[in-house]
Amino acid sequence: MEQELNDNAPRFSPEALARTEEIFKRYPPEHREAALMPILHLAQREFGGWLSPEALDYVARFMKLAPIRVHEVASFYTMYNLKRVGRYHIQVCTNISCWLCGSDAIVEALRARLGIGFGQTSADGRFTLAEVECLGACVNAPMLQINDDYHENLTPEKVVGIIDQLP
Ligand code: FES
Repeated sequence: MEQELNDNAPRFSPEALARTEEIFKRYPPEHREAALMPILHLAQREFGGWLSPEALDYVARFMKLAPIRVHEVASFYTMYNLKRVGRYHIQVCTNISCWLCGSDAIVEALRARLGIGFGQTSADGRFTLAEVECLGACVNAPMLQINDDYHENLTPEKVVGIIDQLP
């Protein structure tokens, strides 16, 4: 499989390949395709935080699946980014608990600070702003996620402070 890829095609690092072996062990060998979601997640981490068409094709070859099967999974779940995202992917929950606790003001503070709206990336490539459904942290609403980290019990002032402290 590897020889068929051109030099610029995405491919897993040796560390990621070792990780795939650990992932496959979680599933019965006759259902290797069940590992598709964690493999896509790994690919997204490996390939810059998003899944390009080339990355999806690579995963399809790697999993020995038809490309359409990989595309349909990657396009169904919102945790897979099919467009390039900034260095900081800010996902703001606007679902009911967060909305009741003030997510509108959080969104407004982010828009004013970053100069971008939902679905947009700042011109310097640092920030992508996304609106998401419940992230399961309703008890500490309103909240948002930046890359892998949750930030909870937010106020507009807090969220601006968090943004300004990012390296
Ligand atoms: S509604 Fe926002 S985390 Fe659940």
